[in-house]
Amino acid sequence: MIDNRIDKVLLTADEIEAGINKCAQYINKKFKQSKIPPLMVGVLKGCIPFLGRLISKVEFDMELDFIAVASYHGTESTQNVKIVTDLATDVKNRDVILIEDIVDTAFTIHQILEIFKNRQAKSITFVTLLDKPSRRILNLKPDYFCFTIPNYFVVGFGLDYNQKFRNLPYIGVLKKSYYS
Ligand code: IMP
Repeated sequence: MIDNRIDKVLLTADEIEAGINKCAQYINKKFKQSKIPPLMVGVLKGCIPFLGRLISKVEFDMELDFIAVASYHGTESTQNVKIVTDLATDVKNRDVILIEDIVDTAFTIHQILEIFKNRQAKSITFVTLLDKPSRRILNLKPDYFCFTIPNYFVVGFGLDYNQKFRNLPYIGVLKKSYYS
């Protein structure tokens, strides 16, 4: 059953799962030989369903941590990114795999990447479930994206509108009438 506040489904649960399988193949290939377990860092809260499915497919030793930043209010990105919850792990000399739900303007990920660079991570691999390149302001490309989407405001599978809809098993476009 599709939520009646959703205009259309962009990605079904099966399509998302297939996309995550391919993403897992990419990181398994890249990190299979790692001597020190890479640190997978989820950007809260939107990463949760994606990260949960992804780590169950990872075939190398890894560690897990999270960072939470505040950057988005309603349906428009803002340029101010504040750390709300910081990592518990020292990332110095670690291979970091950063897991995001979506890249839009890229301000958020840019600031997060700067944090990891300043803390002297050995390498940073940036993986996102969705890429919305049409709204990009900063010239930044993810190392891996599962899906490119058009300029829609989407919810579900971790993505929210005012903290709601993260629980939907699919990714859908919110009806404009619901938020305007
Ligand atoms: P950026 O800084 O503009 O790249 O925005 C990144 C953050 O904005 C993401 O981590 C999401 O939390 C949020 N965001 C961007 N686009 C959408 C969307 O279509 N739906 C829900 N959240 C979004």
